[in-house]
Amino acid sequence: MKKLFVSGHRGMVGAAVVRAAEAQGGYTLLLRSRQELDLQDAAAVNALFATEQPDAVIHCAARVGGIIANRTFPADFMSENISVSFNVIDAARRYRTPRLLYLGSSCIYPRHAPQPIPETALLGSPLETTNEAYAIAKIASLKYCQYIRQQEKLVYHSAMPTNLYGPKDHYHPTYSHVIPGLLRKFHHALVTHADTVTVWGTGNVRREFLHVDDLARALLVLLEAENPPDIANIGTGTDVTIRELAELIAEVVGFKGNLCFDTSMPDGTPRKCLDISRIASLGWKPATDLATGLRETYREAASTGLLD
Ligand SMILES: NC(=O)c1ccc[n+]([C@@H]2O[C@H](COP(=O)([O-])OP(=O)(O)OC[C@H]3O[C@@H](n4cnc5c(N)ncnc54)[C@H](OP(=O)(O)O)[C@@H]3O)[C@@H](O)[C@H]2O)c1
Repeated sequence: MKKLFVSGHRGMVGAAVVRAAEAQGGYTLLLRSRQELDLQDAAAVNALFATEQPDAVIHCAARVGGIIANRTFPADFMSENISVSFNVIDAARRYRTPRLLYLGSSCIYPRHAPQPIPETALLGSPLETTNEAYAIAKIASLKYCQYIRQQEKLVYHSAMPTNLYGPKDHYHPTYSHVIPGLLRKFHHALVTHADTVTVWGTGNVRREFLHVDDLARALLVLLEAENPPDIANIGTGTDVTIRELAELIAEVVGFKGNLCFDTSMPDGTPRKCLDISRIASLGWKPATDLATGLRETYREAASTGLLD
C-alpha cells in the first residue's frame, strides 16, 4: 500500500481524490484538515513529511475562487497560493517524496491561447488580467515541480483541470464559480417565484466544464503513470456558451422564467477549451455528461441546504 498525502482533502478536488482512491484501493491516505495543519506554516509541513514519509502527494490545497473573488483579493490569492504550494512541494523535495502531482488550472493559460489549448501554450502570451495573481502563483509552483524533476529526478508534475463542478462546491453568492453561482441564482428564482434571472456578462463566452469525480480518476491515472507528462490538461475537450449553460441550468432547476445578461459584469477569457490528447493517450476519458452531472449536483446541493 502506498502512503498518499492528499492536501486540501476537505475541498472539492481533495474530497473527490479521497473518494476515487478509496474506491480504487491500493493507498493508505494521509489527511490533515486546516485545523490540524496550516499549510502556510512551513515548519509544521516539514514536520509532517519528516514523521510520515509519504510515498506520494496530490496537492489540492489552495485558495480558490471565481472571477470577482480573484479581482477583489489579488494579494491574498498570490500570497496564500505561493506559500501553501511552496511549503508542500519544498517539504516533499527535502524528504525525497518520490512522487508529487500538483493541481494547476486551465485559467493560468494566456488570455488569447490557441483553441483548443495545448499544454505548450503556457507562458506563450499575456495572461488574463482578472486572475493574474492566482495564475502567477500557480505558474511558479508548476515550474518549481518541473525544475525539481529536471534537476533531481523526483517525478513531480502537474495537472491542468478545466472548470470543475460537483459535490462540495462553494455556493457563495458573490465569490463562487459560474456553475454553483448559477445553480444558486436559478434555485432562488424558483423558490421565490421570480420571473427573471440575471446572468453576469454577455453570455457569449465559451467554457468547458468537467465533473470533479472524472478529474479525480484522471489524477490517479497520472500519479500511477511511470513517465507522466510534466503538464497534462484534464477536461472534456468540448465547450458551451454561458448562455447555453444558463439555459441548461434553468431546465435542470425547473425555472421557466426569462434570462437577461448584465453586460457590466466581466466576461473573462473569451474562450477556454482544452486539448486533452495527452491525458487521452494514457487511457482516460470523462464519464459524466454535463446535463447528468448538473442534475446530480443540483439534487445534492438542494437536498443538503447549500442553496438556501
Ligand atoms: N474548482 C475548480 O473549478 C478548479 C479548476 C481548476 C483547478 N482547480 C484547482 O484544484 C485545486 C483544488 O481546488 P478546489 O476547487 O478543491 O478548492 P477548495 O474546494 O476551495 O479546496 C481547497 C482546500 O484547500 C484547503 N486549504 C487552503 N489553504 C489551506 C491552508 N493554509 N492550510 C490547510 N488547508 C488549506 C482548504 O481548507 P478549508 O476547507 O479549511 O478552507 C480546502 O479544503 C486548486 O489548486 C485549484 O486551483 C480547481
